[in-house]
Amino acid sequence: MSEKTKIEIMDGGPLIVSDLELLEDGEGNGLAVKKKIALCRCGTSENKPFCDGSHRRAGFESSLSPGESSVPSKEGDAVIRSLKNGPYEVCGDIELCVEDDSGLSGDDPYYLCRCGASENKPFCDGSHKGIGFTDK
Ligand code: FES
Repeated sequence: MSEKTKIEIMDGGPLIVSDLELLEDGEGNGLAVKKKIALCRCGTSENKPFCDGSHRRAGFESSLSPGESSVPSKEGDAVIRSLKNGPYEVCGDIELCVEDDSGLSGDDPYYLCRCGASENKPFCDGSHKGIGFTDK
């Protein structure tokens, strides 16, 4: 039996995702995932969507307390898509550990910032368009 898929958010760092079933890139291609992966959310990794530690050099700040509470997951396969030049789209049975879930609409999917510019981290607020965020 597989473990519950979970997203933990590192303050000033990446998303730590455990037991993900499928990760897709911006072209819809499946990417190889290990039991635990770190996904960039500062927007400066040279190896997007994965974290390469660049958040330290970039001085990324997220003013976020790692969550004690968690957002109930939805039904269906646990899938994260790194949308082309945009946020992570999170679908299905994934537990999100977050203290403040005010950025959630309750809809499935929901969207997590990966450009580093959102004013409502960890959620996307559309700022990626304004800063011209790209996958490269
Ligand atoms: S990906 Fe950062 S605001 Fe949308």
